[in-house]
Amino acid sequence: MTASKNAQKQQPVGPLRLGVNIDHVATIRNARGGRHPDPLRAARIAAEAGADGITAHLREDRRHIADSDIESLVNEIDLPLNLEMAATDEMLDIALRHRPHAVCLVPEKRQELTTEGGLDVAAGHNHLAPFVRQLGDSGARVSLFVDADPVQLAVAKALGADVVELHVGAYCDALAEGDELAARREEDRLRHAAIQAHGLGLEVHAGHGLSFDTVKFASALPEVVELNIGHFLVGEAIFIGFAEAIRTMRTLMDEGRATLESEAG
Ligand code: PXP
Repeated sequence: MTASKNAQKQQPVGPLRLGVNIDHVATIRNARGGRHPDPLRAARIAAEAGADGITAHLREDRRHIADSDIESLVNEIDLPLNLEMAATDEMLDIALRHRPHAVCLVPEKRQELTTEGGLDVAAGHNHLAPFVRQLGDSGARVSLFVDADPVQLAVAKALGADVVELHVGAYCDALAEGDELAARREEDRLRHAAIQAHGLGLEVHAGHGLSFDTVKFASALPEVVELNIGHFLVGEAIFIGFAEAIRTMRTLMDEGRATLESEAG
């Protein structure tokens, strides 16, 4: 293969958006009750610092984001809201009532600390199909949070989703643990999954566990057009401030993306 053919493959399919997940602003608020720190204020700061969207996960147990947060985020923020939720009737009613710009269906277990793996859309096809259909009919952009697995991606497409968000947690964990072999294996899986999903006509997003150390790789996947990042940004806000953490993340995303363009050029 010639260098120029290689280069063409590396063109990004579109600009890379940053969705800032504000769940853990609410986690800190809820630790004491009351209203501080307010996720709405965090969303406004995120908008000013360069976020392209706000993401919030309304969990069944309401451990962080509350129903009233969703209402104010929909009504008082100019950025598009990406509502993460489990495929339950209660959450569907809430999504249909508030009409967020986008909905991302995620798996949810009560005991987990965070979303531990992707949604098993292959096993859950029959349960998920009416959720994807009704959310899509309501005008929401429907995303499925899945592992980088060929069968999951094929079923996501068959379900009629607009988007797949690739779970990058295993890659981030491997890198954090210094397991280079596992990190390279996860990188390969993610590269193949992004190519497959884009080839199927799905919009490709990525998220979970991203940090300043891992965001460049995710940004350099040409098919990925959105990253959703939360926990690290809220943690880093303690040290450098929320706006500065977002601006630094944005810079690193741009640097990751620029490696593609320079390879292509
Ligand atoms: N994307 C999805 C679908 C998620 O469930 C989460 C966690 O709520 C994230 C992205 C953000 O992950 P993190 O908080 O680790 O950045």
